[in-house]
Amino acid sequence: MLLITRDVMPQVLERAKREHEVRELRMEGAFDPQALLISLEGVNAILCNSSDIFNAALINALPPQIKVIATYSVGLEHIDLAAAKARGIEIRNTPGVLSDATAELALTLMLMAARRAGEGERLLRARKWQGISPTFHLGRDVFGKTLGIFGMGRIGQSLARMARGLNMTIHYYNRNRLPAEQEEGAIYHADDKSFLEAIDFLSINAPGGPSTYHWLNEARIGMMRLGSFVVNTGRGSTVDDEALIAALRSGHIAAAGLDVFENEPDIHQGYYELENAVLLPHIGSATVETRTAMGFLALDGLNEVVGVDRDQ
Ligand code: DGY
Repeated sequence: MLLITRDVMPQVLERAKREHEVRELRMEGAFDPQALLISLEGVNAILCNSSDIFNAALINALPPQIKVIATYSVGLEHIDLAAAKARGIEIRNTPGVLSDATAELALTLMLMAARRAGEGERLLRARKWQGISPTFHLGRDVFGKTLGIFGMGRIGQSLARMARGLNMTIHYYNRNRLPAEQEEGAIYHADDKSFLEAIDFLSINAPGGPSTYHWLNEARIGMMRLGSFVVNTGRGSTVDDEALIAALRSGHIAAAGLDVFENEPDIHQGYYELENAVLLPHIGSATVETRTAMGFLALDGLNEVVGVDRDQ
């Protein structure tokens, strides 16, 4: 039997029900591990999402018949992989199918931050718009500028392809240099300083976890050009919020576009006061097409482990 923690796309639920006996938890808001644990009788597969925290304590409390956890996300930071491995529980995620949608949102945030789009909309809706003038509501061009991508995986590569359409010069900073055919014409930096000094826009597309924790801190912001921009569609833990908020207040960073935050949904209060921060509620992959594809891929993944319960 398959347990599904959250509401999923209708076509995904339909297929899940054709292939498995399904128990739906339809959790909303904060993850409730107790509600999960009392619903696992007869369950051998779990379909969760990235707000469901499978830490070691929860994984160790799962009944022995659980064979696989498939997550409706590419990110795996919410699952203690070592604990799952020790229990012999397979983990599946949804890489690839969300790359273009997430890159599209990074581009949206770059454009919104540079053109002060959120701020302009707030002004208009507050009925404060008094007409245009040559100096009214000036932003900065994106076209022809320099983009730096931290984390050149599939999403970073997709963003690079899109940014080329804006005639941007692209640099990337990654643990390792990619083969030429995956570089999308971007210039590799092995060194964070030379990378950050070279760019006007920083897009964070790296995964979360200990290796990137608070990577964008005061010291690295100090290496960035005055008036540059920061976009994050990776994981909130990659950014030291105090440092970024201070830089947005001082204008060292002209504006930020953020779709992910540390401690979602209780984000750092300082962001709410900043006109130069575009804030979105973690919607990088939230399109009908992409969430459907993610659901199907998650089902494929768990079927690899437990097969299907039902004749179709
Ligand atoms: C992902 O797929 O990791 C997205 O951030 C949604 O959780």
